[in-house]
Amino acid sequence: MNDFPPALDLVLAALEQIRDREEKPPRASRISLGQLRRTRVTESVKQQSASLSLGSDKAALLEPIRARVAVCIKCPHLARTRTQTVFGVGNPDAELMFIGEAPGAEEDARGEPFVGRAGQLLTKIIAAMGFRRDEVYIANVLKCRPDMPSSSSGNRPPTPVEMQTCLPHLAEQIGIIQPKVLIALGATAVEGLLGTRGVMRELRGKWHSHQETPLMITYHPSYLLRNQALSEKRKVWQDMLQVLERIDRPITEKQRNYFL
Ligand code: URA
Repeated sequence: MNDFPPALDLVLAALEQIRDREEKPPRASRISLGQLRRTRVTESVKQQSASLSLGSDKAALLEPIRARVAVCIKCPHLARTRTQTVFGVGNPDAELMFIGEAPGAEEDARGEPFVGRAGQLLTKIIAAMGFRRDEVYIANVLKCRPDMPSSSSGNRPPTPVEMQTCLPHLAEQIGIIQPKVLIALGATAVEGLLGTRGVMRELRGKWHSHQETPLMITYHPSYLLRNQALSEKRKVWQDMLQVLERIDRPITEKQRNYFL
């Protein structure tokens, strides 16, 4: 089993080469990609945990990964169009780690996740939970902004191949930070962490597990910006109250009755 990670790296490198050489990228079902990804994540987490048990400093462990990500050209189309990579931000010793989808235009410009409108809402949610933004850790499944036609200013979700390519970076971040709770914001984060696409309405508000770390699934803040119904905001807040309970944070009466 010890030879498995290098063998898997070879398979992934071969797939990347085929993808870069051929006009048509290799095709694989979402299920197979999810399985491959989960296996890689498991191995990566084991390696990171091993170095942590040697007493290393988490910030220092993250730096070489940040440096590797900054020059990554595994998705040449994204490397060409990005302003910069968006690695992640926050406290490497955080109890809580929020995972989003991918940088948007503002994140691409500033090199920091969740700084646009959705980001401002996320920062507000974090503050309502009683944390400063720099006390938690925030990262995305994809470290590059998904490219858009030059005439379009919107966003697109990452493709399965882009996710498969970038997820090992997130796995390494999680493996180092080892938060008490992971919070998946939206369906792409769920797919990245669980390897499955489900119905958000059914997945959210329940405890799941990612590599033995408790995982809470909730709606992406941009969903709350699109759907202003108080009922949806309240659901996200209920999910965050569950997170606070899980990490034994005292919850004030004001927080219990809070509406985002
Ligand atoms: N949406 C995300 O998922 N991530 C960001 O960094 C910004 C918006």
